[in-house]
Amino acid sequence: MKTPSLILSILLLRLPALAYNVSHVSHVTLGNSKQRVGANQTRCRCFPGDDCWPRPEEWNELNRTLGGGLIKTIPIASVCHYNSFGIPYNAEACAELRSVWDYPGTHYVTSSSPMAPLFANMSCDPFTAPEAQCVIGSYVQYAVNASTADCFKATLDFAQRHNIRLVVRNTGHDYFGKSTGAGALAIWTHHMKGISIRDYESPTYTGKAMKLGAGVMNSEAQEVAHSHGLIVVGGDCQSVGLAGGYTQGGGHGPLASTFGLSADQVLEWEVITGTGEYVKATPTENEDLYWALSGGGGGTFGIVFSLSVKAYPDVKAAAANLTFSRLGVSSSAFDSALQAFLISLPNVTDSGVSCIWVLTDTSFTLSPASAPNMSSEELQALLNPTLESLSENGILYNYSIQGSPSYLESYKTMHPIYNITEANIGGRLIPRSLVSSNSSIRSLIDAMKFIVENGGEVSGVAVNVTRLPDVPNSVHPAWRSTLFSAVVATPYDPLDFEANVAGQGKITTMFIPKLVELTPDGAAYLNEADPNQPDFQQVFYGPNYERLLAIKHKYDPKGLLYGPTSVGSEVWQIEPDGRLCHTS
Ligand SMILES: Cc1cc2nc3c(=O)[nH]c(=O)nc-3n(C[C@H](O)[C@H](O)[C@H](O)COP(=O)(O)OP(=O)(O)OC[C@H]3O[C@@H](n4cnc5c(N)ncnc54)[C@H](O)[C@@H]3O)c2cc1C
Ligand SMILES: *[C@@H]1O[C@H](CO)[C@@H](O)[C@H](O)[C@H]1NC(C)=O
Ligand SMILES: *[C@@H]1O[C@H](CO)[C@@H](O)[C@H](O)[C@H]1NC(C)=O
Ligand SMILES: *[C@@H]1O[C@H](CO)[C@@H](O)[C@H](O)[C@H]1NC(C)=O
Ligand SMILES: *[C@@H]1O[C@H](CO)[C@@H](O)[C@H](O)[C@H]1NC(C)=O
Ligand SMILES: *[C@@H]1O[C@H](CO)[C@@H](O)[C@H](O)[C@H]1NC(C)=O
Ligand SMILES: *[C@@H]1O[C@H](CO)[C@@H](O)[C@H](O)[C@H]1NC(C)=O
Ligand SMILES: *[C@@H]1O[C@H](CO)[C@@H](O)[C@H](O)[C@H]1NC(C)=O
Ligand SMILES: *[C@@H]1O[C@H](CO)[C@@H](O)[C@H](O)[C@H]1NC(C)=O
Ligand SMILES: *[C@@H]1O[C@H](CO)[C@@H](O)[C@H](O)[C@H]1NC(C)=O
Ligand SMILES: *[C@@H]1O[C@H](CO)[C@@H](O)[C@H](O)[C@H]1NC(C)=O
Ligand SMILES: *[C@@H]1O[C@H](CO)[C@@H](O)[C@H](O)[C@H]1NC(C)=O
Ligand SMILES: *[C@@H]1O[C@H](CO)[C@@H](O)[C@H](O)[C@H]1NC(C)=O
Repeated sequence: MKTPSLILSILLLRLPALAYNVSHVSHVTLGNSKQRVGANQTRCRCFPGDDCWPRPEEWNELNRTLGGGLIKTIPIASVCHYNSFGIPYNAEACAELRSVWDYPGTHYVTSSSPMAPLFANMSCDPFTAPEAQCVIGSYVQYAVNASTADCFKATLDFAQRHNIRLVVRNTGHDYFGKSTGAGALAIWTHHMKGISIRDYESPTYTGKAMKLGAGVMNSEAQEVAHSHGLIVVGGDCQSVGLAGGYTQGGGHGPLASTFGLSADQVLEWEVITGTGEYVKATPTENEDLYWALSGGGGGTFGIVFSLSVKAYPDVKAAAANLTFSRLGVSSSAFDSALQAFLISLPNVTDSGVSCIWVLTDTSFTLSPASAPNMSSEELQALLNPTLESLSENGILYNYSIQGSPSYLESYKTMHPIYNITEANIGGRLIPRSLVSSNSSIRSLIDAMKFIVENGGEVSGVAVNVTRLPDVPNSVHPAWRSTLFSAVVATPYDPLDFEANVAGQGKITTMFIPKLVELTPDGAAYLNEADPNQPDFQQVFYGPNYERLLAIKHKYDPKGLLYGPTSVGSEVWQIEPDGRLCHTS
């Protein structure tokens, strides 16, 4: 399998089908679809250029209702192209944009740019030539700079009246194209930054809590918590949105092995439902909606206005990094060190440590192992079996460990700003049972080797989130026996869209199936997986799917909220031109 030509031929054989699946992701040039209005209007969302598309006066009226918060999309890479939206080509500004393109902050401050480049379909790409197209394409057409629940209601109402595709956009981190869409109107929550500390009292919890507006990002919540001597469970990534898709989809991070997933921390959601109604969802009030929003995925049950989560007293923390290379190391020596690490993971995670690691064709990196409430000596003891194996096998390694007086300090030193993911991804939850015998570990290592030797990378987020929440939620039950969430990646080529289609296809047809063989009937983390995952309902939501779907129908009876692979999305399809239509 190692010869590139063989891989290439497999991919070429499959390309037409894959291209179709990714084309359901892509963008469009406007103005050629007028003829589609009549019969399609009930089957499809109204699209720019259709007769049903709102006239400028109607957009202006929406803007007035919103108090001026309507933004017409101008793609941020317009400066990189001629004749785009009246913005002149500006080589210097374009070079500057390119130099920061990989940073999440370049995108989350905008009302339209998704971080996963596949879903921009090169509509207006900063890396293409100045004469290449720059169109709105698969970006949202308009975004509402939301600040109040009334903005949500007015936008829902407008989208429904005009049969427009609606998207909820927070940071734009989503890997599935859920926070962008051709011909869509977005509710953009980024500026909803309210944070308050609460003394919370409810039948299920009494203690400190933090209330977070829809637009609060992880690092913002951590800073405020820290200033009150508190911590809240958040992601490894500083900029994921706590009230958005991150917590709604489950949410793992450095505190997961200590307190559970982010969805396990939820006390209360304030929501505007698909019918424009304001409701609170708690374990005792609209408990079905509470259950669904806590783990069942973002952007489909309602539009979250605020989230209240448990807050805990601050703790000290330790963290470590470890790297070793495959170069000059025999395959069997490398594998035994890897095996020692994997075997140690149950003990490591049960002790409260969360680990992020990456395996490539040339190296293994653990960065970081996060150990809240632990001294560096305690963390060191847990990592010793791996370090001893490295020494026994004569493998050189780089290792550093550091204790910090507060969780935030440790978090900040160990979690640099992650770049947007310059990769196509897929995922699978790997259960603990796979490291319980030497033969199953062997097959796990073989599967990972197959992936890295064929142009992929494997990373893992190792956690113990078996500490069940006090009240049930819709997190996929497979999480509770998971040792690590594996994310498989192939490189992203900024200039060769077809190569990315092929790279994504490789994940779907070659890499994930290797992990599926080891985990039949298994699951994947709905926020970090393959956007083309077959049977996503079962794999992402498991036994919760039917109930989630019923709750979706109850709170969004008109089906206004849609995102690829979200609950209820199977009744929609994205046409080759990007238009969203019912499947029948
Ligand atoms: C660089 C990077 C690092 C990541 N790190 C982690 C990590 O450490 N841990 C982890 O668990 N995941 C991580 N993720 C995955 C992350 O959890 C998901 O991308 C998640 O969907 C982000 O949510 P968001 O609201 O910030 O993003 P968005 O893309 O803005 O939204 C994601 C989804 O949530 C919906 N949504 C957003 N706001 C609302 C709202 N107010 N009401 C209803 N629906 C809403 C959107 O419609 C969309 O469906 C990472 C992703 C990236 C790209
Ligand atoms: C394309 O997507 C459909 C629906 O999700 C799926 O049934 C099909 O297997 C996918 N094809 C490929 C080649 O991935
Ligand atoms: C993606 O872009 C291509 C090239 O511009 C276009 O032909 C195609 O229709 C787009 N796909 C979608 C789904 O919008
Ligand atoms: C409906 O849309 C499809 C493609 O989305 C198109 O082929 C068809 O001609 C349209 N029908 C009408 C009546 O406009
Ligand atoms: C909405 O109104 C504001 C304030 O009047 C204006 O600046 C903005 O350009 C308008 N948006 C659109 C899309 O016209
Ligand atoms: C992140 O992006 C920046 C800017 O493009 C780049 O210089 C840096 O090498 C990237 N970091 C990683 C870890 O890829
Ligand atoms: C969005 O609204 C906020 C205030 O809520 C304002 O500070 C910001 O400038 C607005 N952004 C845009 C792009 O209009
Ligand atoms: C997770 O760790 C706790 C101890 O901290 C342990 O009781 C529990 O069994 C572990 N989970 C699994 C699935 O082993
Ligand atoms: C932190 O450690 C102390 C002492 O071991 C223990 O009593 C406390 O419960 C721990 N806190 C958390 C949040 O695990
Ligand atoms: C888990 O790690 C601790 C060190 O912190 C060690 O004392 C203990 O023996 C380990 N347990 C197992 C089962 O490996
Ligand atoms: C350790 O780090 C140094 C400096 O960054 C690097 O040159 C060396 O290759 C690393 N060694 C290993 C085994 O990763
Ligand atoms: C661990 O690695 C991260 C990411 O490369 C880096 O930011 C951090 O400074 C390292 N910490 C230590 C203690 O080496
Ligand atoms: C599993 O492998 C380890 C390390 O290679 C070895 O020490 C142990 O005896 C093996 N266990 C079994 C049951 O074969």
